[in-house]
Order: sequence, then C-alpha cells, then structure tokens
Amino acid sequence: MMLLPSTHPLSLLFIFLLHSLPPCTAARPVPEFPFRELTVSTVKNYNRFLSSKRGSRVNGLSEIKKYFHYLGYLGSLDCNISDDILNAKLESAIQHYQSRLGLQVTGKLDHDTVSQILVPKCAVPDGESSPTLHATKNYVYFPGKPRWARRIPMILTYGFSPDNSYHHLSLSDIRKAFKRAFSRWASVIPVSFVEADDYGFADIKIGFYIGDHGDGEPFDGVLGILAHSFSPESGKLHLDAAETWAVDFGVEKSDVAVDLESVAVHEIGHLLGLAHSPVKTAVMYPSLKPREKKVDLSIDDIHGVQSLYGSNANFTFASLLESDTSANPAFGLRFEPSLLAMSMFLAASFLCL
Ligand SMILES: *[C@@H]1O[C@H](CO)[C@@H](O)[C@H](O)[C@H]1NC(C)=O
Ligand SMILES: *[C@@H]1O[C@H](CO)[C@@H](O)[C@H](O)[C@H]1NC(C)=O
Repeated sequence: MMLLPSTHPLSLLFIFLLHSLPPCTAARPVPEFPFRELTVSTVKNYNRFLSSKRGSRVNGLSEIKKYFHYLGYLGSLDCNISDDILNAKLESAIQHYQSRLGLQVTGKLDHDTVSQILVPKCAVPDGESSPTLHATKNYVYFPGKPRWARRIPMILTYGFSPDNSYHHLSLSDIRKAFKRAFSRWASVIPVSFVEADDYGFADIKIGFYIGDHGDGEPFDGVLGILAHSFSPESGKLHLDAAETWAVDFGVEKSDVAVDLESVAVHEIGHLLGLAHSPVKTAVMYPSLKPREKKVDLSIDDIHGVQSLYGSNANFTFASLLESDTSANPAFGLRFEPSLLAMSMFLAASFLCL
C-alpha cells in the first residue's frame, strides 16, 4: 500500500474496534475505519463526484458506498455497494449523513462532506453518543453499554496465546508492555488485572495473528489494521502479527514501527467496554501514526471507564495532573481542580475537534 509521509494528517493507521452484538449472535469484531482507499486522492478528485449525475459510473465511488454501508446509512440489499454507480439510494444516504453531521444537506459529495468522511471518528452506528458535530463529543460505549458484570472490586486475568506469539520481540518485553498498559486502566477503576497461570482459563486472551484467523475479520499485513478486540465479556484481543511491533523506538528504527503499549492501552479500553472516542487526545481515539506513542489516559477516557466501573479509591484527578503535566503541558495549564472547570475544558476541546 502507499504509505503517506508520517507527518501528513492522513497518514493515520486505523486501529480496529470491536462491536458489541446482541447476546446469542456470534461476536464479531467490526472494522472501525477500514477505508484506506479514501485518502488524499479522493479529496483531490471530489469534483468528479460533484459533477456526476445519477446513474453514472464514478471511479472510486464503491469506496464511498462501503463507508456509508459500514456506518449504517446504506443497506447492501437495496444497493450494490461494490459498483461505482451513483444512484438514488446513495444520494439519500448522503443526505441522511449530512443532516446527522450538521452539514449542508445537498445529497452530493461536496467538499465538506468528503472532508468529513476522511476524518476518523467513532463509527459505531448505534453508539450511546452519536457523532453529531454540534453536540458535545465525548467517550462512547458499545450499544447496550456492556461491561464486565462481576462484583466490584473485580479481578480480571489475562494470558498470552502460546500458539499465536510474536517472534521479533521477547515475551518478557511483550508482557512488560501489557502490564504497563493494564496498570493505566487499573489505576483509575476498581479493577485489577493479573496474568493468568493458565492461558485457557484467562478472562482476556491476547494473541498475534496473521491474515485470516477465523473470526471473520482478517488482518491485512503491514499497517492499515493493527489490532482488534471485542466488547465485554468476550476478552479477545488480537494483534496483527505482520506489524513491526515496538517497545522502544530507540531500538526499533523502522518507519512503520507501531508502539505495542499504545495499541494495548487502546484495545484494553475496548475490552472494558469503551468504543472509539472522537476526542483527539483520548487513547480511545481510533487512530495512531507509525512511531507515535500514546499511552496516557485522557480525562475523556477516565470519565468513560469510570462511568462503567466507578472510580478507584486511590484515584484523584489531582494525581493525574501531577503525572501528566510534563507529558501534556497544555492540559496542565488549563486544568483547575474543580469539576466545572474540567467540564468547561472538555467542552472547549470538543469544539475544537
Ligand atoms: C455488484 O457490482 C459488482 C461490480 O460492478 C459486480 O461484479 C456484481 O456482480 C454486482 N452484484 C450484483 C448483485 O449486481
Ligand atoms: C490503594 O492503595 C493502597 C496502598 O498502595 C493499596 O493497598 C490498595 O490496594 C489500593 N486500592 C485500590 C482500589 O487499588
């Protein structure tokens, strides 16, 4: 695939999300934003969408159709999402999308609409918080708000699949990265994570897989999809073994290296019940650039997970500030230890999205 320069805003990698399905339906992870074809060239060429008439064939339109289909705006039964033909169903899907996102409702793939399509955002179609531009945006749950239903405080065990391992890092480095990732969540909620002696009995099962690995969501090789996991209480966390996983960018010089701990923190958030957040600083934001490290929970992540599990007795937002000022000075400057100030800060940052 074409890799954009890593400083380009579109050179994002998309972390997969899980999707909660009703009980009794086979759980299946659903890609959050599997639309790598929707890139700079799509935006540059949006005129070809704008000037085309109903019934005409427009190169690349099937990617747009798949996107609307994924978001739930376009059914695959009444519209062939694999062809490039502009039809009435797509036009009405575009109108629906535009009205949901506060865009001018034209039914056309105009510049604002195409630009909006390219912004990675939470795409859980029936999320508890819907992506509308003018509403306050924050953390998102899976439909039905599933969480691990054990008594608080709870202990969840995790294990690494002995048959699906990653050979370019030592198991000890992988375990350390995950231990740190789990401890970030454990410090804010009354849930602790303990490595299981027996993988078969672990609540959370972590493994590295290549390509099609039997859950209906094949991995795609280097970059693109990095990982996926499932909503509670499945506990499955899968990483794409084709990535160049890194625990130390000083040692791993590859341009396409992906920080294991950052992806672990994000996927654990899914395992606990958080879907993707539209807040850019959140670890639950759906994308990560190559060689980017993003491991600190944001206020949005913390509010989200605490509203599922409650707060860890030892956690205070002041302690967060102490540990966070060097990592994120803007946050430190804006922070005032009152809930009102905090929600104002959040509202301000949401508006800037
Ligand atoms: C949908 O479009 C694709 C690509 O043009 C074509 O191969 C396929 O046969 C079409 N499917 C149906 C059901 O018409
Ligand atoms: C809070 O901290 C104390 C002392 O470090 C520790 O013993 C206790 O388990 C912690 N409580 C929780 C809920 O993590």
